[in-house]
This record gives sequence, structure tokens and C-alpha cells, in this order.
Amino acid sequence: MITEEELLVRMKPGCICKGIKLHIILKAIEDGATSFEEIAKITGIGGGSCKSKRCGEKVALLLKESLHHPDKKTSPPQNN
Ligand code: FES
Repeated sequence: MITEEELLVRMKPGCICKGIKLHIILKAIEDGATSFEEIAKITGIGGGSCKSKRCGEKVALLLKESLHHPDKKTSPPQNN
């Protein structure tokens, strides 16, 4: 079960430039996306004024975690 704290973290921005919440990115990863390009295609992230610098770093961390813990539900980054 998702905690209230995790729910609040998931509602934070995932891609600030495009206004896409973190939970949308996490869902794409949980559904099997394994690269920034796949996630960008599914969610619409990237291509903003920062040229994917901010969301690219978040996605890289999330993908790294999901690849190291494939059976664990993806957790949002704690430093956002
Ligand atoms: S935060 Fe995603 S393109 Fe800038």
C-alpha cells in the first residue's frame, strides 16, 4: 500500500518544463519502459527549455533503481 508521504512525492513535478507529474513517469517505468526515449514517447516529457537536463537526471535515477530492483515497485527520488 502506498503511504501518504509517497503519494505526495509522486504528485511532485517529473518534468517541470512540460508540467508532467512524477507519477506519470513512474507508471511508464512500472509498465515496462526502460529508456528515457521510451518514457518521453509515452509521457511527453523532454524537449523543454532545459533540454531534458532536469527530467533526464530524474529518469536516469529511476531507471537505475528499477533495473537494480526489478521486483520492487519504483520509488520516487527523495531529494525532489
Ligand atoms: S524538465 Fe523536462 S524538459 Fe525540462
